[in-house]
Amino acid sequence: MRILGIETSCDETGIAIYDDELGIMAHSLYSQIAVHADYGGVVPELASRDHVRKTIPLIKEVLTAANLTPQDLDGVAYTAGPGLVGALLVGCSIGRSLAYGWNLPAVPVHHMEGHLLAPMLEDNPPEFPFVALLVSGGHTMLVRVDAIGQYQILGESVDDAAGEAFDKTAKLLGLDYPGGPVLAKMAESGIAGRFKFPRPMTNKPGLDFSFSGLKTATAITIKKEITEQLTPTEKAQTQADIAYAFQDAVIDTIAIKCRRALEYTGLNRLVIAGGVSANTELRVKLKQVMDKLNGEVFYPRAEFCTDNGAMIAYAGLQRLKAGGQNDLTFKAKPRWPLDTLETV
Ligand code: KG4
Ligand code: ZN
Repeated sequence: MRILGIETSCDETGIAIYDDELGIMAHSLYSQIAVHADYGGVVPELASRDHVRKTIPLIKEVLTAANLTPQDLDGVAYTAGPGLVGALLVGCSIGRSLAYGWNLPAVPVHHMEGHLLAPMLEDNPPEFPFVALLVSGGHTMLVRVDAIGQYQILGESVDDAAGEAFDKTAKLLGLDYPGGPVLAKMAESGIAGRFKFPRPMTNKPGLDFSFSGLKTATAITIKKEITEQLTPTEKAQTQADIAYAFQDAVIDTIAIKCRRALEYTGLNRLVIAGGVSANTELRVKLKQVMDKLNGEVFYPRAEFCTDNGAMIAYAGLQRLKAGGQNDLTFKAKPRWPLDTLETV
């Protein structure tokens, strides 16, 4: 079976064709970063308009790259939520219309389920059950996964998502949007130990996260330490040291919670997915945690950590095989709790 996947939930248009025997046959991604950079964050209306411009050309590009026609497909999967409503509506409308015109089933996909299953696209996929850490710009959650659609949310962020905290802190350091990866790069030249930030909610039991206090602590330090008196070299070093301490605090907090989730569930497989799972230091730290627990950590290749069409095609195909196609009335769901999905 073969499916077209359409991702338009935020600021990336991602299109892919996935075949359950051949794997990913083609995929393409258009990032809107340049469109939003001047505004320091995603502007929903601009995002929707850009998806309108890019989705159809990318679908044509991917079909050509895979040397396929619509007749070679068995379904069309599209991200139906959660995300920005206008952006979602573009993918939903195009996905539904193409499916109708091509006489194919249309399959609505939950964006976070896409992220969660992205490691299944790799050579050594995890077996169920496992604990998944979803860390993106919009979500931070720990989920127990027993099967596709059988998700128990163990903990989540009560305020900012991890990626959001990275982006906001990066902005305070004067970096362009989305600053997460740039801040991570800056932290590479930071000196360990010069600054130390809190590990929020790690002293209390439980698996929820909170990153807004850490962001405030970092903001106070930036205001105090980055002064006019610094030479350019001193300024760059201080920024790097703050970036290092911030990243260290986020990663340490996440690692403590992951260890706790594995102990709580008694499982020894950890999946990490979502944009922040591209962070190299996070991967190194979680590998150390899993080695100590005699467990294994799984993650998608870097390009499938952030938003992409391949994960939507993969999740859509699993849902299609289980009869999960929808009628013409399906709406985009900007909010859509992950633990309300049907089990496959
Ligand atoms: O999953 P994603 O592409 O979009 C959402 O669904 O939110 O995640 C994007 C987020 C952004 O906040 C970005 O700054 C963050 O992932 N990110 C990183 C890294 N690469 C992307 N954060 C820290 N380190 C990275 N290397
Ligand atoms: Zn995402």
